[in-house]
Amino acid sequence: MRSDRSCNTRATSKISGLVDLKVKVHLTSNLKTKIFERKIVAKNHYYVTHLECSLTGEHYPAGQIHGLSKVQRPLLVRYDLEKMKSELSRSEIENSNSPGFWRYAPMLPVAEPKNRISLGEIVTPLIPLKQSALILGGQKGKILIKDEGRLPTGSFKARGLSLAVSMAKSFGINHLAIPTNGNAGAAMAAYASQAGIKSTVFCPEDTPDINVREIRLQGAKTYKVNGLINDCGKIVGEGKEATGWFDVSTLKEPYRIEGKKTMGLELAEQLGWNLPDVIFYPTGGGTGLIGMWKAFQELKSLGWIKGKLPKMIAVQSSGCAPIVKAWQEGLEHAPIWENAQTIAAGIRVPVAVGDFLIIRAIKESDGFGIIVDDNEIMNMRDKIAKKDGLLLCPEGAATAVAYKQALQRGMISDSQRAILYNCASGLKYPMPALFSTINKNEQVDYSIF
Ligand SMILES: Cc1ncc(COP(=O)(O)O)c(C=O)c1O
Repeated sequence: MRSDRSCNTRATSKISGLVDLKVKVHLTSNLKTKIFERKIVAKNHYYVTHLECSLTGEHYPAGQIHGLSKVQRPLLVRYDLEKMKSELSRSEIENSNSPGFWRYAPMLPVAEPKNRISLGEIVTPLIPLKQSALILGGQKGKILIKDEGRLPTGSFKARGLSLAVSMAKSFGINHLAIPTNGNAGAAMAAYASQAGIKSTVFCPEDTPDINVREIRLQGAKTYKVNGLINDCGKIVGEGKEATGWFDVSTLKEPYRIEGKKTMGLELAEQLGWNLPDVIFYPTGGGTGLIGMWKAFQELKSLGWIKGKLPKMIAVQSSGCAPIVKAWQEGLEHAPIWENAQTIAAGIRVPVAVGDFLIIRAIKESDGFGIIVDDNEIMNMRDKIAKKDGLLLCPEGAATAVAYKQALQRGMISDSQRAILYNCASGLKYPMPALFSTINKNEQVDYSIF
């Protein structure tokens, strides 16, 4: 008996929650040929209902290009979570074949798979600190590094920018511009090039050199500006009319935050849909912290996680700590931090348009803000690299310093499970020079080793 099979499929609806597929199955044998026609239902999840001003709650229609809301505050994407709950299951996500954070595509705003711009994302590892846990005063196995440096372009900015670029592609936008301390510009350049979209990037003149070079190599027109990231942002904002570019600044378009939301979704799934007790996050513009908090709310509404949510800890440097200072002073908005300076370039953000959202997440989670010094950051980076072989970026090392301080001050306990976010590869940052040499023409003194 010989049996051949062939299928042809026809989609009858594209963007609704469900797609009817007419499937013709031809079964051929040497005795007879039968044609079965069967109607199956495949899912094409898309649940965005509208966008909402994060300050006033005003609604904005989905499916249109948006920047900030009318009151110049971030727009948040809202979903029909009831419908999502009835149609989407955790196991469907767990069994996804999509790369990295694209496994959460049904919970994201990119309606059509063809618009997903991907550079081979992965699920980033959670690595327990061993020897260095003791340096932090904590317990082995209780402190986990979420190493985002392994994403395309070497940082977590891949999450937000792939979403922003994918949405830009779906809207037919052909020129993107961004102010950056380095990593966001690199991610935007790479994803925009992959999407065939023109990109222009402005960085403060003392942005780590490797960032500036990678941005340029990955296809963006790149400029150094004699100022800070807010000065770069001003150039982008003021140039919109003259150039026609679309402003992709942190939280000034609605979709980077949806990409960063996947940090929270991924963490939950990785921990078996359980959340840690505390999350230490190096906070600049705050997209990651806000995005994770949004993820946890959505997961709660879906009933996929239960119990207490983690304390969200915003970590900033003593040279630039507008958010932590505002939180300490009980303010809702953070005044600009003058003369901002820190070795941790990613968190050198003197003013954040989503300040109140970061502060809200800290408060709602019963978390706190903590300030660390640059010299402690660099010492910690060196110690963790030597003890555990993990080369953190300075921003990541800042979270380890913050953990140690929080433990010493009794703000957390060593039995709590803590996640420290290492948002970029340590390889992107300057490292101490090496001066030891061997002269191959002389007798080697083996007693020195
Ligand atoms: C390595 C690193 N850590 C942390 C941050 C701060 O991220 P966020 O803007 O989400 O607060 C940045 C931002 O550039 C960064 O590059």
